[in-house]
Amino acid sequence: MKKLLITGACGQIGSELAMALRQRYGNDNVVATGHRTKPSQELLDSGPFEFIDCTAVDTLEKVVKEYDVGTIYHLAAMLSAVAEARPQLAWDVNINGLYNVLEVARKHKCAVFTPSSIGAFGPSTPHDNTPQETIQRPNTIYGVTKVSGELLCDYYHSKFGVDTRGVRFPGLISNVTLPGGGTTDYAVEIYYEAIRHGRYTCFLRKGTYLDMMYMPDALKAMIDIMEADPSNWTYRNAFNVSAMSFEPEDIAREVRKHIPDFVMDYNVDPVRQAIADSWPNKMEDSAAREQWGWKPDYDLASMTSDMLEKLSAKLNIRT
Ligand code: SER
Repeated sequence: MKKLLITGACGQIGSELAMALRQRYGNDNVVATGHRTKPSQELLDSGPFEFIDCTAVDTLEKVVKEYDVGTIYHLAAMLSAVAEARPQLAWDVNINGLYNVLEVARKHKCAVFTPSSIGAFGPSTPHDNTPQETIQRPNTIYGVTKVSGELLCDYYHSKFGVDTRGVRFPGLISNVTLPGGGTTDYAVEIYYEAIRHGRYTCFLRKGTYLDMMYMPDALKAMIDIMEADPSNWTYRNAFNVSAMSFEPEDIAREVRKHIPDFVMDYNVDPVRQAIADSWPNKMEDSAAREQWGWKPDYDLASMTSDMLEKLSAKLNIRT
C-alpha cells in the first residue's frame, strides 16, 4: 500500500496520531517525521522516522519519494500564543510549510489532511453556535495563517484536484505530549497540576468559554475524514467539529469530584486572554455530522475521569 506520512509527529497531536495510524494500517506503512524535537523511543521503535523541515521543500519531497507516500497528515505548525510572540516565523512555518506540502502533494498525487482551528475565527464572528460559513476576520497571526491555509487547501483541490481534507479543531486535551504554546493549554495543565500539587493558577479569566475536545475524539475525526467518501461533500477543508464547551470553573468543579481539595486561582495573561476572547464559545458542526458521520464520544465528565486515571498512572501519583 501507499504509505502515510505525518509531519509534526513529535507534537501533541502527531505523537498520538502516529501510534493510532500504525496500529490501524501497520507500523511500516506510517512514516513519522519531525524537525527539532527529539522523538520518543516508542515512535522510533515502532516504525520509520525521518527528520524533515517543511519550510525546506526538498527535505519533504525526498522522503515522500523514498517511501512512496500517498497521504500526508500535515501537523507541523506553531500554536497561537507562541505564534503571537514570533509572527514572522509563524507565517513561515504555518504558511510556507503548508504551501510546500501542497506542492509536493500536487506533484506526487498525495491526499492531504490539514488541521484548521477555532483560531480561524475572530472578534466579529458569532461566538455561540458559530456556523460553518460565517465571518472570518481573526486578529492573530495564528488565525491569519489558519484562514489562509483553509483557502489554500480549497484552491489546491479546485485548481489541481489535490485531495485536500481538514477540520477546524477546538482546543485539544491530551495526556501523552504537552501542547506547544497554545491559548487552550490551561485545560491540559490543570490536570497535571491537580495531580502533582492539588492546585492550579489559571491564565484565562473565570467565565472564558471555549470549544474543547479530548484527543481520542480528535484522532477519530482525522482517521474518519480521510477514510470517508467525499463525493457528496459540500466542503473539503475546515469542517467545524465540536465536542464540549466549558469555562475554567466548570473544569475545576469536575476535577474536584475526583480530587476534593483541588484549589484553583487566577493570574490572567492579557495576551492569551485577548486571543481566547476573540474565539468562539462553541461551534455548530452539523455539516461534519451529516457529511462524514462526525460524532464525539467524550464529554467533560468522561474526559476528566480518563485524564486523571491516565495521568496518575503516567506520573505515578495516586489521587
Ligand atoms: N489549541 C490551539 C491554540 O490554543 C487552538 O487551535 O493555539
